[in-house]
Amino acid sequence: MPKFIITGGQPLKGEIKVSGAKNSALKILPAALLTEEPVTIANLPEIEDVRRSIELLTGLGAQVNLISPSSCVIEAKNIKKFELNPELAKKFRASIMFVAPLLARLGEVKFPHPGGCIIGAGERPIDLFLEGFSALGAEIKINGGFYHLKARQLKGAEYFFTTISVTGTEAMIMAAALAKGKTTLKNCAMEPEIATLAEHLNACGAKIKGAGTPTVCVEGVNKLSGGKFTVMPDRIETGTFAILAAAARAPLTITKCLPAQIESLLAIFKKIGIAYQAGSDWLKVLPAKKIKSYNIKTHEYPGFPTDLQAAFTVLMTQASGVSMIHETIYDRRLIYADMLTQMGANIIMCDSHRLVVNGPSRLHGKRLTSPDLRAGIAMIIAALIARGETEIDNAYQIDRGYENICERLNKLGADIKRAD
Ligand code: EPU
Repeated sequence: MPKFIITGGQPLKGEIKVSGAKNSALKILPAALLTEEPVTIANLPEIEDVRRSIELLTGLGAQVNLISPSSCVIEAKNIKKFELNPELAKKFRASIMFVAPLLARLGEVKFPHPGGCIIGAGERPIDLFLEGFSALGAEIKINGGFYHLKARQLKGAEYFFTTISVTGTEAMIMAAALAKGKTTLKNCAMEPEIATLAEHLNACGAKIKGAGTPTVCVEGVNKLSGGKFTVMPDRIETGTFAILAAAARAPLTITKCLPAQIESLLAIFKKIGIAYQAGSDWLKVLPAKKIKSYNIKTHEYPGFPTDLQAAFTVLMTQASGVSMIHETIYDRRLIYADMLTQMGANIIMCDSHRLVVNGPSRLHGKRLTSPDLRAGIAMIIAALIARGETEIDNAYQIDRGYENICERLNKLGADIKRAD
């Protein structure tokens, strides 16, 4: 299994460019199934989850022409297959994003429970999706580990999300775009990726209002046209690199990013003594002499993102004082804490949602396994600031969401090798 070998303690400096947003690309690709006409997508991140999505698209009969490694044209004129390749679908959670477009376009879809990071209690649930599609009139059967959904014509409805869900909101927007009549979605997630998905669909002829706010109204249309979409910069990558700069006390400039989308992190930087300069599409983090401890609680956008929680914990191991890290979105997203403890951090796990970090600590290299994508990148940050060598097994989990991570970090002065 591929792994990363990192020799820590190298001085880092320079510029790093942010890739296209994983969690936008993974919705825009399947959304191309909503139309028979070509959709051109640019600034795709070159990551494993995008490759798997393209494999799912071609498996369904869509034509995907790669113009460059980061752009493609998708033409989904001849989609006849309504069954997702189970091996691929089980590899990543975002395979669930194919369900709504197939159901809306073909009236039928069959798929297994989606896979991906293990960051919930057992498998991450899809009950909200099933409930939402059922509200739009889909008939649902579950048999032999497969979900089979049918609806000759989805019908607009009102649906209230009892738990705020990013992909749930996006799936319902896609399904409602081709449903008959009006759909009102309440208590929706407000992540920027949702607003850009709706803007793209509107440019293709959909009638969606309110995306990016808690209430989204969709007036169904008969058909969508093709279009062009440029994936926005990845806000989680931006935040991750900013945390790396702060933890490594390295002067890093992060380019091709949107600092306005990580306000929750930058507001904390001001309070803990990390100076930065920001423009509309760049961010420069300056080395701090002393970092103060701080308590965080993850929250839906625009609050502190769960996807930056693990990296922030690493930063707090370098801060003076006691910090509480409170994960509110997922049940099992703190299991990496044990690995940081093995590296020398002083962390007490209070329960499955809260941990206390007592800093600062000198970290030292260890042999670790990446449990999930975001914990994996946090382990890389810890390894980069630690003394000695760290091995991180299960590199695939990190490659799923971070493009060419070794090459990009090595350009800053890091010493990371990939090995089998
Ligand atoms: N939930 C349910 N039922 C459902 C769906 C979700 O109970 O049917 C629960 C989840 O278990 C969780 C909460 O709702 O406790 C919120 O999860 P949400 O549905 O918002 O998460 P998601 O849409 O599956 C997306 C991102 C995640 C990110 C979360 C939260 C994508 C592909 N994934 O997941 O990204 O952590 O929103 O912001 O957009 C990552 O990039 O590493 C990642 C995990």
